[in-house]
Amino acid sequence: MNTDHFRFPCFLGRRVHLGVTGSIAAYKSLELLRLLVDAHIDVGVTVTASGQRFVGAASFQALGAGVVHTSMFPDERRGLGEDPFAHLTPGRSADAFVIAPATANIIAKIAGGIADDMLSTQALAFRGPLIVAPAMNPNMWSAPATQSNWRTLLDRGVIAAGPDNGSVACGDTGQGRLCRLEHIFAQVLRALSPKDLAGKNVLITLGPTREPWDAVRYLSNPSSGLMGATLAMAAWMRGADVHVVAGPTDFDFPPSVHVVRVTTALEMLAAASDLFPAADIACCTAAVADFRPVPPTGGVAHKLKKRDIDPLALSIALTPNPDILRTLGAAKRKGQILIGFAAETDGVLAQAKMKLAEKRLDLIVANRIGVPGSGFAASTNVVAVLDRTGRVEQWPELPKTEVAWRIWDLLQHL
Ligand code: C5P
Repeated sequence: MNTDHFRFPCFLGRRVHLGVTGSIAAYKSLELLRLLVDAHIDVGVTVTASGQRFVGAASFQALGAGVVHTSMFPDERRGLGEDPFAHLTPGRSADAFVIAPATANIIAKIAGGIADDMLSTQALAFRGPLIVAPAMNPNMWSAPATQSNWRTLLDRGVIAAGPDNGSVACGDTGQGRLCRLEHIFAQVLRALSPKDLAGKNVLITLGPTREPWDAVRYLSNPSSGLMGATLAMAAWMRGADVHVVAGPTDFDFPPSVHVVRVTTALEMLAAASDLFPAADIACCTAAVADFRPVPPTGGVAHKLKKRDIDPLALSIALTPNPDILRTLGAAKRKGQILIGFAAETDGVLAQAKMKLAEKRLDLIVANRIGVPGSGFAASTNVVAVLDRTGRVEQWPELPKTEVAWRIWDLLQHL
């Protein structure tokens, strides 16, 4: 599964406190720390006594944690400074607190307000967004006590990350697995993000489409779908209810992002048209194939055998596909915002201006393809943004995640 669209670089200097408890999944918290540090986030860590049976403080330090707490009292701390108020530090300075993995024990302690070690005390003194990622045996997870404690936490606004279904370390299968790290990471980024798209229903088309000629051959293009996937993630992080219509790509999205996977332009049109009436903002980033092959006799369900083809008479007939963006533009009601993309090899601004008007768009994001650092399969993009009021902005080469973030910023002023 592709997770490049989770790599937002715009959290420089934000502070997150990571709590690690005694689950076999504790080793995975090292990878979570790496994801946070890679996003330029300052991370403090507290590992409980049982957590340290699985992972040592030195590992967190080596991977970039700013401070690692291992016990409550100064005389028990090893090389950690002597701040007598360390139990209040996350409450005073962290922007978000994440406990991953969280055992039934820490969930019960937080639910009950018990503060008998460093982590539970820090959690009790923390008032910001708290993300909890449970990990335990399915029987422990489904135990009435755990379920009741968990409901208490959710009612208080704790942000849930998992747990997932699947096999757990002891060999049992059921709900209780630590949720995918990228999803925990995404919840942390979401907790750090403004909620300026809260209440907005956002529709995004992304990726290429694949147009079959016969059962094994198709027409497509090299779109990675990354631009659309980052727009979807950024909108979700900023509070929107996000619906993605994805052509053939392997992006993984948080469970609360609604994803419809399609293959052809006609399927994409049907899915997007269904979702558009409820959308406040629709953003068509998909590189829809403009034409589809007319299948040979026998249709797309059969593979045409090479021996049945006369190579001298071989040709593939094409028929135009519908323009999804134009169709949505024609159906646009007052107040809906429609964003399109224009990938051009030349005359970028002129082409974009024309498409903005013709397809009844509110914003168009134009880029040159075929140049380094921009376009289909790159992780960065060089774009110009034109809006319906005539404003034009040229942006330097930026990661697509940053381009996505800025597009949603720009929309606030439209
Ligand atoms: O006209 P052109 O294909 O260059 O326009 C690109 C924009 O139109 C993109 O936003 C793309 O997602 C959208 N589009 C579409 N359906 C098509 C072709 C393009 O939605 N069949």
